[in-house]
Amino acid sequence: MTTDIPNFIYGTAWKKEATTNLVELALQSGFRAIDTANQMKHYSEALVGEALLNSGIKREEIWLQSKFTSLDGQDYRLPYDPKADLTTQVEQSFTSSLENLHTDYLDSYLLHGPYNFPLLGEEDVEVWAAIEGLYESGKAKMIGISNVNLKQLEMLFESSSIKPHFVQNRCYANRGWDEGVRNFCQQNQIHYQGFSLLTANPQILQNLAILELAKKYQTEAEQIIFRFSQQIGIIPLTGTSDETHMKTDLSISDFELLSKEISLIKNL
Ligand SMILES: NC(=O)c1ccc[n+]([C@@H]2O[C@H](COP(=O)([O-])OP(=O)(O)OC[C@H]3O[C@@H](n4cnc5c(N)ncnc54)[C@H](OP(=O)(O)O)[C@@H]3O)[C@@H](O)[C@H]2O)c1
Repeated sequence: MTTDIPNFIYGTAWKKEATTNLVELALQSGFRAIDTANQMKHYSEALVGEALLNSGIKREEIWLQSKFTSLDGQDYRLPYDPKADLTTQVEQSFTSSLENLHTDYLDSYLLHGPYNFPLLGEEDVEVWAAIEGLYESGKAKMIGISNVNLKQLEMLFESSSIKPHFVQNRCYANRGWDEGVRNFCQQNQIHYQGFSLLTANPQILQNLAILELAKKYQTEAEQIIFRFSQQIGIIPLTGTSDETHMKTDLSISDFELLSKEISLIKNL
């Protein structure tokens, strides 16, 4: 089992039948952390499992994360009985994830998103308790929540017996890169994973200051954003389908942005 916290995660959403080849390519390129979900509408978890088998890489060398998705987020292809109570739905979905991924544990398991908005409600409390049960069984080594706002995260932190180890959220530059949630995570030893770092911020990718930094570090604007995110405590996700991008994204630890450059990007 790898207990290390990854510093870059390969995301597997929206790849459909290309999932197997792309996950294999990501592993060959050097990624060792994989994010998926038992949500056939957007992910092909069983094909991630196929890629893991094909790769020949030992299970303990890979950090593997999946998610429980509520009925609202699913299409007709469900990994659980929709009439079952929520605790049973979580258990059935998790068991199905283990089968899809040919493993008997996950390094991380997330609640894909709260049932209620803007605060948490009783469904969230029940589902989190079921996820805590998976953690206590040892089958989910760490647990967390995605698509969460600050109030919801504070409520979860207050009410839970097992505190979330991870948050996975979308990062908009014009919202301070999710500053409120990130600060709460930093203060409470929660690891923050960020997605849509590129797609949510097209204006940043074209910003002249970012392009100047890319020139200085002999890289591309995308890598400046990923490196910036790592340096402010975000574990970035990428779902790139491009082998060159996979390799250049993983090479960002070759350079380090100066603190004045970090401040500049924060204030764009
Ligand atoms: N929890 C949630 O609700 C949630 C929601 C969305 C996503 N996610 C996770 O986050 C992962 C990433 O999703 P994302 O929304 O961030 O988008 P993404 O799937 O990573 O898409 C990134 C886009 O940027 C392009 N790109 C250009 N240069 C790139 C470079 N150097 N490196 C990487 N990409 C580059 C990619 O094109 P190329 O393919 O040509 O590189 C692609 O079109 C998903 O696969 C999923 O695992 C989670």
